Amino acid sequence: MRCCGCKVHKPACLLVLGLVIGVQIFLFQSDDAVNVFVLSEPKLMDNLPYGEHDDFREGRSCFYHSPHKFPWMPLWEKSPWTCQECNNGKCKPLVPHGRCPPFRRRETDQVPRVMSQASPLTNQKSHTLVYHHDSHTSYAQVETPACSGTLAMPCFDLNRCSRFGPVKVFGYGKTVEAWVDYAVTQTKGVDVIQKTNNPQDACLLVVGRDSFAAPEELLQSKHWKGGRNHYIFNSIELFGTHGDRPFNTKCHFGMAATSQVSADDAFSREGFDTPMGLYPKWKRPEQYRELDINRKRRLILSFRGAVYSWEQRYWQHRWIASEYWEKASDISVDTKCGIKRIKPEMDEEKRLNPGKIDYEVKDGKAHEEMLLNSTFVFCPGGGGANSFRFPEALSADAIPVVTSDFLPPFSPEVDWSNCLVRVSEARVVDIPNIVRTIPEEEIRKRRKECKLLYDKVYGNEISQHFTVAMQVWAIRIKSALRRKFEMLDIVLA
Ligand SMILES: *[C@@H]1O[C@H](CO)[C@@H](O)[C@H](O)[C@H]1NC(C)=O
Repeated sequence: MRCCGCKVHKPACLLVLGLVIGVQIFLFQSDDAVNVFVLSEPKLMDNLPYGEHDDFREGRSCFYHSPHKFPWMPLWEKSPWTCQECNNGKCKPLVPHGRCPPFRRRETDQVPRVMSQASPLTNQKSHTLVYHHDSHTSYAQVETPACSGTLAMPCFDLNRCSRFGPVKVFGYGKTVEAWVDYAVTQTKGVDVIQKTNNPQDACLLVVGRDSFAAPEELLQSKHWKGGRNHYIFNSIELFGTHGDRPFNTKCHFGMAATSQVSADDAFSREGFDTPMGLYPKWKRPEQYRELDINRKRRLILSFRGAVYSWEQRYWQHRWIASEYWEKASDISVDTKCGIKRIKPEMDEEKRLNPGKIDYEVKDGKAHEEMLLNSTFVFCPGGGGANSFRFPEALSADAIPVVTSDFLPPFSPEVDWSNCLVRVSEARVVDIPNIVRTIPEEEIRKRRKECKLLYDKVYGNEISQHFTVAMQVWAIRIKSALRRKFEMLDIVLA
């Protein structure tokens, strides 16, 4: 969907239009607070991913032909991609290497992915979230969820929050309380949040891992009120959902904001939910701590991971890289083809990991060597949009290359646009050329920015992630209050 000249989905655009442009709020750094971010109000990702707006008359590109749309072309049933290379508008087809057999993509435009009930309090009909896939670009069409980033009633009651001073936060359960304490210490001196033990007194109520034994208990809690002013941190843990299916069909979290690993741009409500990062399986070992960030690297680009014949579109991105990237000494593609198929009778664990090949653990030395020797690392999704390769690349001072539906942790408040490289699905095949044309100076700048973001967002543990989340909420709440009072001043004047 195209609106206001930008390629984002509709809720995000409405959010941006609703923002008072030019207002910037900063949290000031203080000496005490080592890990405090300087965040600004969310702004639209201004640099568009490579290949989103071109006409595919140059370079390499791939297009997906839906077998549903071309039922009369049985040949495309099994390999519905056409990949081509163009020079001055003259195009020739690309031939796959033949490492992994082609497989079909799930036709999500035909199948509603998620049916969920909106909160009874908002009196909204249940909404169906549908993915729409077209020939070469994939768009997300989402019936606007009940809540948005403007923090307005009924989803968010700003009257519970004070215009001055830190945001009062209540944490359900011991773990969340400890996170809140940690975040308060980390942001000491800049008044981001303050802990309260009284849920009625809180502006933001946070739910986490051990807050409740089951989601049903949360929904019955006295202060829940349909999820209003609630924030579910790492909602996967509580709701048992997955990137591909962010909503638990039996138990909807209503008006609460969620924080979720692997949510993509179709499901995450920008400025309301907060995307989280996956924690890396591989981290740079202590012995490599002092490596020069701008050291010489053997590889310009690498990708290591399995390709499963699972119809998720992210596996298709892996397949394209594996099948069509040029073979060159400075490009490393290390893939194995998972052969097992998803079957309906498989249990959840098996469905998520059919024929699982654990790249980080198996042959860990090769993994480490590749990461530490790469300038760019392709980080395609798997079951969801997120990838372990993303934090791993950052940990190795490499620059992650992601597809345009990937939501980096705590975006848009945390701005990753000066670090990572985003490409459209159609241009996954052209990543080798794209990264080769990035000048050394820009590479150095991006590396520096990536390192800064990695240290601040990931730190060493989950409580660091939580601290960033609290800073994001403080920014949101304070700017929403500011807008509200500015409006009021205009009315009263
Ligand atoms: C980079 O690759 C070379 C050659 O394979 C290897 O000897 C070296 O140890 C690698 N560097 C790191 C930091 O892993």
